[in-house]
Amino acid sequence: MERDTTVRPATLKDAETIYALIDRHRDELVPRSLGNVVESIDRFVVAECDGETAGCAAYQIHPEIGDAEAATVEIVSVAVDRHFRMRGIGRKLVEAVVDGVRRFRPHEVMVLTFAPGFFRKLDFEEFPKTEIMHKLYTGCINCTKHANPYTCPEVAMRRRLES
Ligand SMILES: CC(C)(COP(=O)(O)OP(=O)(O)OC[C@H]1O[C@@H](n2cnc3c(N)ncnc32)[C@H](O)[C@@H]1OP(=O)(O)O)[C@@H](O)C(=O)NCCC(=O)NCCS
Repeated sequence: MERDTTVRPATLKDAETIYALIDRHRDELVPRSLGNVVESIDRFVVAECDGETAGCAAYQIHPEIGDAEAATVEIVSVAVDRHFRMRGIGRKLVEAVVDGVRRFRPHEVMVLTFAPGFFRKLDFEEFPKTEIMHKLYTGCINCTKHANPYTCPEVAMRRRLES
């Protein structure tokens, strides 16, 4: 039976659950400390399904990518708990973040992901990582998973937004 899912802005009470959800997906997501989740809580949405937190997503603005007045927004920390996958919850989370950031009038949203098939379904298209050197440098400099951001299998993808 299809269960109801609500996507809503996160509250401080959600911080520990979000932290644990991201931590469980440390192979696919950039890890975040609990303190970092708390101070970024206003950028998170969560999905609730039958009273349980099924997933989360957030964003980060990148004034260094593109024109600062229409800066790129990165979709980050997208995670759906394994028990709740393939029911459209990931799509709802990403669309909620995209709708929420439209007020800033970014020219595009982007993502660095190990799940390009999922984002392709959401109308994101691949682009060369060489276009985001600065972001790669600052984001990847402390990553120990891969020797080089260009050989790392994470895929850069974007969706242009109408201004
Ligand atoms: C990727 C992830 C968020 C997808 O969540 P989900 O709730 O299962 O996704 P949805 O059910 O909303 O799927 C939306 C569409 O994408 C497809 N899809 C889902 N996961 C996919 C994947 N890994 N590869 C290809 N397609 C995928 C679904 O079949 C669905 O297609 P449809 O619209 O034709 O039916 C989830 O698997 C996850 O948390 N993965 C680990 C963390 C991660 O990789 N996050 C993304 C990095 S930023």
